[in-house]
Amino acid sequence: MKIITDPAEMQTIAEKLRLNRQLIGVVMTMGALHEGHLSLVKLARQTAGTIILTIFVNPTQFGPEEDLHRYPRPFERDVSLAKAAEVDYLFAPESPSVYPDHYQTSVTCGTLAERFEGALRPGHFNGVATVVTKFLNITKPHIAVFGEKDAQQLAIIKRLVKDLDIDVSIVEAPIIREENGLAVSSRNIYLSGEQRSTAEILYQGILHAGKCIDAARRDLSAIAAEIDGMVRSAPGFIPDYVSFVDEETFEPAEHAEKEKEYRLLLAVRAGSVRLLDNAKFRCR
Ligand code: PAF
Repeated sequence: MKIITDPAEMQTIAEKLRLNRQLIGVVMTMGALHEGHLSLVKLARQTAGTIILTIFVNPTQFGPEEDLHRYPRPFERDVSLAKAAEVDYLFAPESPSVYPDHYQTSVTCGTLAERFEGALRPGHFNGVATVVTKFLNITKPHIAVFGEKDAQQLAIIKRLVKDLDIDVSIVEAPIIREENGLAVSSRNIYLSGEQRSTAEILYQGILHAGKCIDAARRDLSAIAAEIDGMVRSAPGFIPDYVSFVDEETFEPAEHAEKEKEYRLLLAVRAGSVRLLDNAKFRCR
């Protein structure tokens, strides 16, 4: 595995790979790699011959209240995990080479980025969209794999690629769960043992939604309110939102239409840790 820190060098390598008819797959991360990230690499490997993994803690997607400097950066451990996952190139630039002096251009997302995470973290998705666009230009991939775990981010990236005619296929990777159903996330390390076991309530909520939809219930806001109540009954767990959205538009959905797809979004605070989860349902 080669470690590249210079964007121009990465771009030259990617161009050569393309000229040699290599199919490039990229997985973008902020490091602190876990099972979820490694599953994205595995999925990329199913299609691509060369895998580029990016590690960059992107400052433009952190708000002023969010602690960019506290974000975990276990680089040596990440390098070992990337090697073991047979990543070909690890692209890990420093911030000044991504955002040099006088940098002033950014990608602005539309309404898709205004609700849910976007409302709670103003500017976050513009930062994500900007760095993803830059890294697609630098790594020149044929496919880019993003996790369904961050469903709104995935929807925004799919929209971005369509709207800006970026020539890449976005591959969606399913959520990896711990034994009790908790979605694997970098933030889980901040949970106490008790919070970690209580956190299964989010998955219980998803299972409840599945049962309701299977029973042909269409009252999505009522189902979401029931799940909100379930989460609130767990000591110290406070939902920021529990809502169904239309899978295409990400608009909040109150009533389900037959044969349409909806996604249940959950964001829950457990002390200082925010847990995100979601699941897609098709209404019968
Ligand atoms: O999902 C993440 O880890 C980040 O938002 C991403 C896509 C790597 C951009 O910084």
